[in-house]
Order: sequence, then structure tokens, then C-alpha cells
Amino acid sequence: MFNNFSKKALRILKKVDIFSQPVLLLIKQEQGHKTLFGACLTSGLISFFLYLLIVNLFDLRQGKNLTSLSTEIYHTQPHQFKLDETNFTLTFAIQSPSFKTYIDESVYVVEAKIQTKITRITDNEKIDEWTQQDLPLTKCNPELIRQVELQQYFSQLDLTTNYCIDWNKIKELDLEGTFDSLVYRAILLEFKICNDLTKKSKECKSRDEIKKQLEQNYFSFQMPSYVVDVKNDKHPFLSKGEDIFTTISSKIFKEISIYMQPITVFTDIGIINEDYEVQNTLRYKRHTEMIDLNESDLIMNVVIRLDQIEQQYYRNYTKIQIIISKMGGLWQVFFTLAFLIQKPINMLSYYVKILNSLFEFEQEQKKPIKNQKQENPNPETLQQEFSSRQQLQSTKEILFIQNKKKSLQRLQSIKRKKKQIEAIESLALDPQSKEETKKQLTKAISFSIKQYFLSISKKLKMRWTDYLYFINCFVNSKNYKSLQIQYSFKKIIKQMDVLYILKKLQEIDKLKMILLTESQIKIFDYLQKPTIPLDPDSAQFSVTQNYYSILKPRKNDYQKAVDAEIAFKDLVENLDNPINMKLINSIDQTIVDLLKMRKDSLDVISEGDVCISGQRYDRNAVLSIDINQRNSS
Ligand SMILES: *[C@@H]1O[C@H](CO)[C@@H](O)[C@H](O)[C@H]1NC(C)=O
Ligand SMILES: *[C@@H]1O[C@H](CO)[C@@H](O)[C@H](O)[C@H]1NC(C)=O
Ligand SMILES: *[C@@H]1O[C@H](CO)[C@@H](O)[C@H](O)[C@H]1NC(C)=O
Repeated sequence: MFNNFSKKALRILKKVDIFSQPVLLLIKQEQGHKTLFGACLTSGLISFFLYLLIVNLFDLRQGKNLTSLSTEIYHTQPHQFKLDETNFTLTFAIQSPSFKTYIDESVYVVEAKIQTKITRITDNEKIDEWTQQDLPLTKCNPELIRQVELQQYFSQLDLTTNYCIDWNKIKELDLEGTFDSLVYRAILLEFKICNDLTKKSKECKSRDEIKKQLEQNYFSFQMPSYVVDVKNDKHPFLSKGEDIFTTISSKIFKEISIYMQPITVFTDIGIINEDYEVQNTLRYKRHTEMIDLNESDLIMNVVIRLDQIEQQYYRNYTKIQIIISKMGGLWQVFFTLAFLIQKPINMLSYYVKILNSLFEFEQEQKKPIKNQKQENPNPETLQQEFSSRQQLQSTKEILFIQNKKKSLQRLQSIKRKKKQIEAIESLALDPQSKEETKKQLTKAISFSIKQYFLSISKKLKMRWTDYLYFINCFVNSKNYKSLQIQYSFKKIIKQMDVLYILKKLQEIDKLKMILLTESQIKIFDYLQKPTIPLDPDSAQFSVTQNYYSILKPRKNDYQKAVDAEIAFKDLVENLDNPINMKLINSIDQTIVDLLKMRKDSLDVISEGDVCISGQRYDRNAVLSIDINQRNSS
């Protein structure tokens, strides 16, 4: 009971196997019919796709198939950005009307600060706390320009007449937030007229003198910025110098705000998954100027602060699975196209293969009657009628005659070799060399027999033009092959039906019923299956078991021919048996030619060959002559 259940469970479990081996019929030891054209098409298709895949993967490595999109993000409170000597450089000074920058602390002084406002909320009340940190400035020199990419840009300035951040005294500075946010930090540069309160290292000039000198001046200011190149996969930020230039005057007070925009590039560097690499920096976005007409000792304030709008760039590279699935789609299209081209050719070639193994086909060139007529032409009446046809046919016929001659030559050479083998027996040679020469001759005969069969084969040989006829559905009445194929195809298509095969199996059952008695049939079921011994190659085994067609030993062409020859001799000598008579009469003439080559009748056959070559007799007639001769002898 339990045993039964477990068996059932096993059977059900086995049904899950999706890798089951389908039951197949083979054709010529292959699972399907394959053609050379199909093989070429397949390799063409595969190499094309390999090429595409390699090109695509190469592009992927190069970052060529990139998609990018940019968005803007609004921040109420931009987060902190640190700046240091490698990515922040400032140069600025006031310019005289002749556009020459100058530093003169007896005229104007600059105070630089990092201004911080922290808003505290206590009891619903906002309290702003301002703190300031000095930003050390100094007269510029090339050593202070430490941003490598922009050294070239800044070297064009007259550095010693400009102010710079003194990187020897400060390591880094930062910007954060906006004016409304809880934390706000910005750089503030205050330009003031030199007076008792503001004076630094130098004594101030007289007030009128200063006012006059500053009446019509310019302000020159340089800072680093970036442009974004999304196509550059390693370094999307390209440094550039930003130059701000404006007028100033002692008569007005200017307030300039320079807004720095955060830019972020998200690069998807994952090959299969998304894996974003984030790069960010600040760039100059815009500046605003406000003018106050109140005359005071202030010339200008410059504030460097963050912008609230962040620019973001997303860069996606095509993923490997996307490439592969795209290629899969493309493959479907190309495969379908190739399939449409290949399918009819394959079908035709498949049926031709089946037809060739089932039928023999009369070859188009064979026109023996005309051949004969040409040999004895009637000069008066036939000349004109045939001259045109003759020209048309002549090439074909020459081919045919050559073919025929070839097969005859082969027959002759087989005969010669057989004679040689027999001659060796009578020669006085040592047995070993005799054996060897025999072996060689046997091999040669075997080869000749193969060639003979090739030369007399009546198979349909398809040329590519024949395929074109069929694919165009253009059946040329002059194209005998298409007629032959159509006819024979109709004949076999029924037999390829599984119902037909089942019917035939049933017929065998019926035959069994008719041929065997009831008790014989009962025993029949117990007939032993062929048993494969430990050494299947042993000679004894092949002799005892070879009535099973499945175990018939493989013989070479020569051996087969020799066997057939002996069997033929046997049949000819027992012509009383009607089956023998029928059998002989159904053998192809050309094969009879081969079989008739026997030691005792060599001369007779050479006469017969002459007959065959000269003129095609009715097959049965030839045989009857031959048989008559045998009976009389
Ligand atoms: C890039 O990846 C992001 C993140 O998944 C996605 O939202 C976006 O649509 C992708 N862009 C393109 C152009 O494929
Ligand atoms: C400047 O460089 C520092 C150190 O390399 C880095 O922490 C900072 O984020 C950079 N700032 C910008 C705006 O690129
Ligand atoms: C403008 O100047 C007047 C008089 O000189 C002074 O009272 C006033 O406070 C100044 N305003 C500002 C904003 O400095």
C-alpha cells in the first residue's frame, strides 16, 4: 500500500522535469534536415550578432551610449560647501580709468570676512546672531594661485596689483544657506575709503584727493567657475575663469551679490544595477548690483553666497541587460527574415533527400533514341529537322555519352583488377606479399565500385537555379526536375503520415495472423531478443546473431558487392523459383552489369557490354540472353 503510494508520488514528481528528452525520429543519423545554405546563413547571422555585441560592449566601455537629463532643485537651505586652495581662487582690485589694477592702501582698503548668521528660535521669537571671521588677504603672487587648472588663466593678469586670499594663513572656508535660512554663511568683501578709522599700513591721502581719484574707477574681479560636459565620463566639470567687471565711484555705494550655484552630476556607473557616483561643485551663476546714492566712506560691498537653485545632471549608461535584450529583439527580426528565406529551401532540400532515398529519377540528358537516330541520319529528310535540335542537344549528349563511357571504363577497371587478383594466386610469390597486393587491389576495387555507383546514380541533383524555380512558385514545364519532384512528392506525402505507419504496423500483425498458427503466435512473443555479448566484435557472435537486421555487420562496398555477386549466382542457378525470377528482373541493368562479372563468364560479359554501350536493350531481354547462354553451357 505504502509502496504503491510512493511509486505514484515518484511518477508525479518526474512529470515536473522540464528537461525531458523529447522522443525523436532521426533522418540520416541527424535530428533534423540541415542544409549548407542554412549553415552559411546561421554562421552569417551569428557572426553579425557577435560583431554587434562586441561593438555595443565596446561603446559601453567607452561610455558612448549615454542618456542624460538635467533638472533643477530648489533648496530653502542650501547645504554647506567647503572651498579650499585647490578649487577656489579669488583675484580682485580696483582699476584706474586707464584699466590698470592697483593696490593703494592710502586710497582704499579692503576688509574681507566670512560672515555667519545663526538664527535661534526661542519662545516663538527669532534671534539672529551675527559672527564674523577675518578672511586674510594679501597681494597676489603666482605661488598663491594653487588651482592647477586655472593657473594659465590667472597668469594673464598682473597679479602683483591684485588682492588674493592668503592660503598660507587659512586652509579652507565655507559657504552655507541663504539669508532666510537658519544658518547663513557668506564671504563679504568691504571696500572703504581710507580714513582714520579704516586706515591700515599706510597714511591716507587727503580726502579730496581720494575722492577725485576714485571718481571714475572700475572694479575687476576673477573667480573660478565650471561648465558641465556630460559626455566626459571621468571629469564632467571643466574649470573656467569667471570675470566680473563693473564701474565704481566715490559718489555712490554699490552692493554686489555674487550667487554660486551648486551643481551635481549623478553618474550611473553600475554595469547591471544602478550605482550612482555623485560629483558636485559650485559655479558662478549670476550677480546683482544695487546702488545707493548716499555719499559715505563706503565704496562697495561684495557678497559671495550660495544660490538656492541646484542644477542636477543624471547620466545613465546603457546597461548590459538592456543591450542584450535589445539585441534579442533585433535577433528575432533577423531570425524571422532568415527563416523566411531559408525555410522553403530547407523544405525542398529535405523532400529531395527523402525522394532520393526512395526513388530513382530518370535524368534529363538521357535520350537514347535520338542518340541512335543521329548515328544513321537520312541525309534527305532528316537533315534539316535535326540540325537545329542537334545543335541544342549536342552539348548535353556529349556530356551524357562521356558519363556513360566513364561508367563503362570503371566497369572495365574493376574487371581488370579482379583478373589481377586471380592472377596473383597462380603467381609464385611468398604468401605475405601475395596477401598485401590482394589487400591493395581489394581496396582499389572497393573504391572503383563506389565511383561506379556514383557515376550510374540516378539521383536528383539540385542546382541553385532549381531552388529558384520552386521559391518563385514558377513551375517551368521544361524543368523536368520540378515535374518529377511534384509527382513523387504527392506519392510519398501520404506515407509520411503517422496514420499510414500505424496502418502498416497493423498489416504486419495481420500477416502474422495469416502466416502463423495460433500456437505459433503464442511462442512468437517469447522469441529471444538479441543479446549483446561481452565482446561484440567477436567473429562467432556476428555469425550466430546476424539474422537480426539490427545486428548486421557493417560491410565495405567491396564485400557487399562480392556477397551480392555470390547471391546473384545462386539466384541465377535456381531460376525455377518464381521469386528469384522476379527479383532478378527488378534489379537495375547497370547493377546487373556489375554482378555478372564472374570468373567463368568474363568473356561473355565483355560481349554484353558492347551491346549495352551501343544500344540500350530492354533489360529483361539482355538477361534472358545471358541466362540462355548459362543454361546451354
Ligand atoms: C536614469 O536613471 C534614473 C534613475 O533610475 C531614471 O529615473 C531615469 O529615467 C534614467 N534616465 C534615462 C534617460 O534612462
Ligand atoms: C573643494 O575641494 C575640497 C577638498 O578637495 C572638497 O571637500 C570641496 O567639496 C570642494 N569644493 C567644491 C565646491 O568643489
Ligand atoms: C544718508 O545720508 C544721510 C545724510 O548724510 C544720513 O542721515 C543717512 O543715515 C544716510 N543713510 C544711509 C542709509 O546711510
